[in-house]
Amino acid sequence: MAIVISLLNHKGGVGKTTSAINIGAGLVEQGKKVLLVDLDPQANLTLSLGIPRQKNSIYESIRGESELDPYHVKENLDVITSSLDLSGAEMELINEAGREYILRELFVPVAEEYDYIIIDCPPSLGLLTLNALTSSQYVLIPLQTEFLAMQGLAKIKQIIDKVKFRLNKELELGGVIATMYDSRKVLNRDVVDTIIKHFGEKVFKTMIRDNVALAEAPAQRKDIFAYSPRSIGAEDYLNLSKEIIQRTGAEVLAGVESK
Ligand SMILES: Nc1ncnc2c1ncn2[C@@H]1O[C@H](COP(=O)(O)OP(=O)(O)OP(=O)(O)O)[C@@H](O)[C@H]1O
Ligand SMILES: [Mg+2]
Repeated sequence: MAIVISLLNHKGGVGKTTSAINIGAGLVEQGKKVLLVDLDPQANLTLSLGIPRQKNSIYESIRGESELDPYHVKENLDVITSSLDLSGAEMELINEAGREYILRELFVPVAEEYDYIIIDCPPSLGLLTLNALTSSQYVLIPLQTEFLAMQGLAKIKQIIDKVKFRLNKELELGGVIATMYDSRKVLNRDVVDTIIKHFGEKVFKTMIRDNVALAEAPAQRKDIFAYSPRSIGAEDYLNLSKEIIQRTGAEVLAGVESK
């Protein structure tokens, strides 16, 4: 049964999509089977992997017009694509019964096929994000190590707590990812200190360093392991995905099963 993880932060440009793609690809590097879900109407994840508009994107599935229709990217890596049409979904579903659980139900038939489902959330806290949280066991928060990184975090925490209380008891803050980190910058180091003071053990030991290869890979329609396997971006996302496997218990469970 797949472990479902959402990448969440309503602040834009903090590394949600970059992390979703490259954590997913990092998990694949370690033999896991992964489904990436692009839940953002900007469709950045879909476009970054060079996937053309599919007949059945997440939009059609959320409207109830099709099952989830994974696009096969490479061995062990599939994607549920998005499209700009998704921007209308929140309004269209406003009066739908059970509207917070649509994605969760869509996952039921595919969950057995994957080890991990990774959801790239839009930079907002609307109904799409709510659907992601209702479907997930873990939420990961990428924080850019810049001024104002922590701004708005109280709101995220509040939403996670509310979803946990009302809609999904299983939901847990799986961790905080420091992104675009440059150890030469005093400000970056100070922000990391603040993040660690606030979140303690929840902060992943692996920090994602500022690395131009991570910004270039989408232009080549590739994940970091396909684009530049020796880059520090690949090193960081591989280490991060190892930590994620440890934290989410997939390895532990696999060990139990094999005994
Ligand atoms: N570690 C990094 N080093 C250098 N550039 C990065 C790094 N992480 C992300 N970027 C770049 O920063 C920009 C924003 O990243 P990304 O799109 O992943 O953020 P996002 O949180 O998904 O944004 P949005 O809120 O718009 O969906 C992109 O151009 C991306 O290529
Ligand atoms: Mg994004």
